[in-house]
Amino acid sequence: MNRNIAIDGPAGAGKSTIAKLVAKQEKLVYVDTGAMYRAMGIYFSRLGADPADEAAITAQVDGADITIKYENDAQQVYLNGENVTGLLRTEEAGNMASKVSKNGAVREKMVELQQKLAQTTAVVMDGRDIGTVVLPDALLKIYLTASVEVRAMRRYKELVEKGEQCDLKAIEADIAERDHQDMTREISPLKQADDAVLVDSSYMTIEEVVKAITDLYRERLA
Ligand code: DC
Repeated sequence: MNRNIAIDGPAGAGKSTIAKLVAKQEKLVYVDTGAMYRAMGIYFSRLGADPADEAAITAQVDGADITIKYENDAQQVYLNGENVTGLLRTEEAGNMASKVSKNGAVREKMVELQQKLAQTTAVVMDGRDIGTVVLPDALLKIYLTASVEVRAMRRYKELVEKGEQCDLKAIEADIAERDHQDMTREISPLKQADDAVLVDSSYMTIEEVVKAITDLYRERLA
């Protein structure tokens, strides 16, 4: 039986936090597909590529060899042999990832890699197109969202805790822009799959979201 869980949703909805906890609880492997697009973003940033130049992006995509390994149960992303995991979580990598991820050749390469990963083991995979494109037969599909304001506030608190200077309104604008980019692109835009369960985490704790998802999952497994 297919035991995969697909979690899609906009930036900052808490997908990776939730997916990691669900994976641990249900003994599944967590696959963070955003990290793969972020590695692709780093590759193109280093090349000095213009993400709006579709032909140039398509022509250079084959030069990026992205591989995933698991070390101490944590996903490590390698770009052309270099472990870039520590470089992925910056705003710059996220924005570049969002821009280059609209390219068809980039998506084709990433989807193939993600589908291969899910063939070898049962996974919780999070991203934007997992339920719609990558794992259309997933046992459970979740569309995890929260309001722009709540997502911006969560990100703001995270940055403040790290001692970083930041502006709530700028974060809000950034999140709204990323939503727009991810939801309006031509190929595989972010949208809720017809058979996905909507979970709005705006007023839920992490524990409540994890419980909602694992309860649904166990019902389906039974
Ligand atoms: O989830 P994230 O913020 O790490 O993802 C970074 C960007 O990568 C996101 O803005 C859009 C793109 N992405 C995608 O197009 N498809 C996915 N399955 C995952 C991420």
